[in-house]
Amino acid sequence: MAVDIVREFPDTGWASDGPTRGVEALVEDGLVLAFPHLPFVLDDTERRFLDARWADGKAKNISVRWPGGELRGTAAEASDADALRAMIVRYAEQAEALALRLFPHYAGHLRRGNSSFRPSEVSTRQSSWRKDDSRLHIDAFPSNPMQGTRLLRVFCNVNPAGRPRCWRVGEPFEAHARRYLGAIGEPLPGSAWLLATLGITKRRRTGYDHLMLQLHDRAKADAEFQRSSPQLAVEFAPGTTWVCFSDQVLHAAMGGQHMMEQTFYLDAGDLAHPASAPLAILERLTGRRLLA
Ligand SMILES: [Fe+2]
Repeated sequence: MAVDIVREFPDTGWASDGPTRGVEALVEDGLVLAFPHLPFVLDDTERRFLDARWADGKAKNISVRWPGGELRGTAAEASDADALRAMIVRYAEQAEALALRLFPHYAGHLRRGNSSFRPSEVSTRQSSWRKDDSRLHIDAFPSNPMQGTRLLRVFCNVNPAGRPRCWRVGEPFEAHARRYLGAIGEPLPGSAWLLATLGITKRRRTGYDHLMLQLHDRAKADAEFQRSSPQLAVEFAPGTTWVCFSDQVLHAAMGGQHMMEQTFYLDAGDLAHPASAPLAILERLTGRRLLA
């Protein structure tokens, strides 16, 4: 089975007058929408930020958190911090304008998550396999149960030296779920309540979150899957923007440096076609309601 999930579009601007619009069905179907001529432009005073020394050495990303707009993860101070924050906020605004043009159905429902700038080299040496994003995975987080809420992400490669952002992408979500669902057991009785009560999870880990986390972990732990499952290597050149639901698209970050990323949250019920969402697919395959 060949993986063919990247679609290219000719847009050259972020604002509402661009040519591509109303493509909810494509992104909800698990495609990666790529815009090879849609750069995030840094001005002369911002190019100095394309340097890993601005990271604080602890966080993976320099980020702006919403709704407050605080800058995190950077060693920059005073006017440098202000300029860095302004650059990331501008990316958030442009990514939002693009998302609302591409997906007008989401207007009024899309919620802004973290905006991040990743000036460090993609690391393929991780302390644990679970954190190793160079292994194919869907996004799911142990401490942050999404309870069916979708993760829409807008990425842009801002590398100044011509280096691509290298990804692998993998099989469709339903095929992936079928691969592992039969082997996934029930969570321990009471464990969701306990994790939330102890503050280990930010909210209750639903049946949906249990399955998503298991899919994430099983894929990353399965060396044979990583090596031989259907997959495609993709290079996003500098000046390319790409958009996908990262909780649905199997992806792995293989290399690159200097990227912008904006996360949006969207309730599954606000999709144009909720039946194509991981929640609906998992409920159909298991024959169970998964948010209870
Ligand atoms: Fe990821």
